[in-house]
Order: sequence, then structure tokens, then C-alpha cells
Amino acid sequence: MSKNIVVAIDGYSSCGKSTLAKALAKKLHYIYVDSGAMYRAVALYFLRNNVDTKNHEQIEEALKNIHLNFHSRDYETHITLNDEEVSEEIRQMPVSEKVSEVSALKEVRREMVKQQQRMGQSKNIVMDGRDIGTAVFPDASLKIFMTADPAVRAKRRYDEIHVKSPDVTLEEIFENIAHRDYQDTTRAESPLVRAQDAIVLDNTDLTPEQQLQFALDRVEAIAGH
Ligand code: DC
Repeated sequence: MSKNIVVAIDGYSSCGKSTLAKALAKKLHYIYVDSGAMYRAVALYFLRNNVDTKNHEQIEEALKNIHLNFHSRDYETHITLNDEEVSEEIRQMPVSEKVSEVSALKEVRREMVKQQQRMGQSKNIVMDGRDIGTAVFPDASLKIFMTADPAVRAKRRYDEIHVKSPDVTLEEIFENIAHRDYQDTTRAESPLVRAQDAIVLDNTDLTPEQQLQFALDRVEAIAGH
């Protein structure tokens, strides 16, 4: 007998969380939710509409006007912001540079966590982010906390975005990652921290297949899949 579970995957930026989460969801026939894409889409809205992140009324007003939806085709992240497909735009540097500031806002986090918890009601879900095992699903059956050498993470992200953004240098990406690590771990609202019951997965020297096997072995032990 197998049971349906929530799998929470947290960790630093560009650690391969989404690669593992997608592969795991596909294998288990679970829903995959990229919670970072939600914060990125909110950051894009803030950028486009010049929302002042120090003005609480403006933030609340903006949140009322933001409608996010995932369209899960082929386990890739397809997200719409007010019915516009923004999956590509949210990966570009302007959003990457803005998203830490926006995701640190308590109003934004409150709203995103509410939506994420709703998505997890029927279990069968793999969600990745920074606070999934601590704030969104503190009772998740399986929590994985991912980490890897920052230089390796920068190189991976560089290889990923270099084709579409050839002007971006490895140094810029490294700095952006270091900056986001700092912001993510030191912010007042739900900082990135390993849940006490999370299993650490350092994937500096692991292939995606080895990481998937690591996770599948844990799921098997818990849920009998
Ligand atoms: O995973 P990512 O790099 O796409 O996430 C984008 C940003 O959103 C990242 O700087 C941290 C933030 N984030 C968060 O605060 N909480 C989450 N659950 C997911 C992402």
C-alpha cells in the first residue's frame, strides 16, 4: 500500500532544487509547485507597476491585483500573472535582482503561503522553495534541505541562462547568488533555515540521477511508493 505525501524541498538559490523536485514529481505522478516562481512573478508585478516596497497600502493593493496560476504541462513551470505567461521573464536579471526584497515583505509571504497551503491540501505534491518545510508544510512527511558549493551553483546558473542572456557574466551571477543567500538567510520573515527534521542533501558532486535516487529511497521508506 502506498500513501500520498507532501514532499518539501528547501535550500539555497541555484542548488538544483527545481531539477530534483520536477524529476521526483514526474516519477511519483505528483503535482510540482515551484514556489520561487510565485515570488518572482510578484516581483515582476512590483517592478512593472513601481510598487513602493515601503508603502504597506501599496503592497496590499498590489496583492489584491495579482492573480497567479500554474499551468502544469510536462512538469516545467508555466506561470501566468494576470493571465499573461511570464515564465521566461521572471528568470531574467531585473527580476532576480528585485525578488529578495519583495519576498522579504510579510504581506507578500502571508499571501503566498496561504495559496501554497491550499495547493497542498490534497497531498500528492512536491514543492520547492525556502520555507516549505518550516512555514508552508511544517508537517510534510519528507523534507529535504539542499545545499552545494556556491561556485558550482553559479556555474550551473550561468550555463542555464547564458544562451538567452549572453551579456551576463559568471561574476555577476556569483554575486547575485551570494547576495540572495545573504538576504534569504538573514531576513526577519521566514528566513531560510533547515527544518530540524529535514534531511540534508549536498549535491556538489552528485549527478541529477543520484539525487533523484536519494529522494526516491526516502519516499519509498515513508510512503511505500
Ligand atoms: O528559487 P528561486 O531562486 O526561483 O526563488 C526566487 C526568490 O524567491 C529567492 O530569492 C527567495 C525567494 N523565495 C522565498 O523567499 N520563499 C520561497 N518559498 C521561494 C522563494
